Amino acid sequence: MKNIKIFAPASISNVGPGFDIMGFALYKPGDEIMVKLDNHKKIVISKITGDGKKLPLNPEKNTATVAIKSLLDAYNIKIGLSVSIKKRMGIGSGLGSSAASAVGGVYAVNKLLGLNLRREELLYHAMAGEYIASQAYHADNVAPALYGGFVLIRSYDPLDIIKIKTRNKLFCSVLYPDIEIRTSEARKIIKNKIPIKKAVAQAGNSAGVITGLVTGDNKLLGRSMIDHFAEPYRKFLIPGYDIIRESALAEGAINCNITGSGPSMFSFCESEDKAYSIAEAMKKASAKFTSRNKTYISRINEKGPIVL
Ligand code: HSE
Repeated sequence: MKNIKIFAPASISNVGPGFDIMGFALYKPGDEIMVKLDNHKKIVISKITGDGKKLPLNPEKNTATVAIKSLLDAYNIKIGLSVSIKKRMGIGSGLGSSAASAVGGVYAVNKLLGLNLRREELLYHAMAGEYIASQAYHADNVAPALYGGFVLIRSYDPLDIIKIKTRNKLFCSVLYPDIEIRTSEARKIIKNKIPIKKAVAQAGNSAGVITGLVTGDNKLLGRSMIDHFAEPYRKFLIPGYDIIRESALAEGAINCNITGSGPSMFSFCESEDKAYSIAEAMKKASAKFTSRNKTYISRINEKGPIVL
């Protein structure tokens, strides 16, 4: 095999109280990453499309190639690769754009070179790529994008990734307002110290989300999707946050939160029809604040990356 093309999915992260520890993969949007063996003995980015020229072509600064380099260096593999990236989602959207590219990169190289590395190893290198974009080691986008499904990061040290078997039939509606929020900036506005009362509430809600998922209890899931760590501070970055959220709840959403550091917001509900009407309501509400807003509807993507 001389080249490979991978689809790597977008992901919803935090999922209410799961700041840095919960996320799930979507079927759309996602990135396409192409990796080709080359003779030049280095890693180059031959092309990036769909990014509005926002992403660096410098392989030291792009999440896909930083992740690939981390992997190749770990195994002392010296080869030439040309990487091209088709962005199919916004940069700084809250949908795990940088993670999708990093995951696509390592997944592609693992397959292309027949390395048969375990996902845990790929995850480590994808996180190195993600670090370049967000200036933090967090796995709540890279892990779901790589493993598929709903993922809990039980621990970072050591890394302990738990795939949650959800019993609910959930549909996710996503609103992507037309603004960019850099995760590295949005992490700076979060407080370093959390009062014990809030930490207790967050722990209760995190356990509630996971229990709601494994038992299929949507009411428990809904009342647990409350974040005290990040959302109260970040919501001001999203024009119309409260009105958008209320529009989703009025349409019957299980709950509605910011995904990652925003600006995208997501809702869960029980049927596809409802997911479309919730997305429509969120889009209508957001139109008063930002234009060219996009929506996506997706189930939880259990597959993760796929070879195209
Ligand atoms: N957990 C991360 C954050 C996700 O909220 O900063 C960023 O996409």
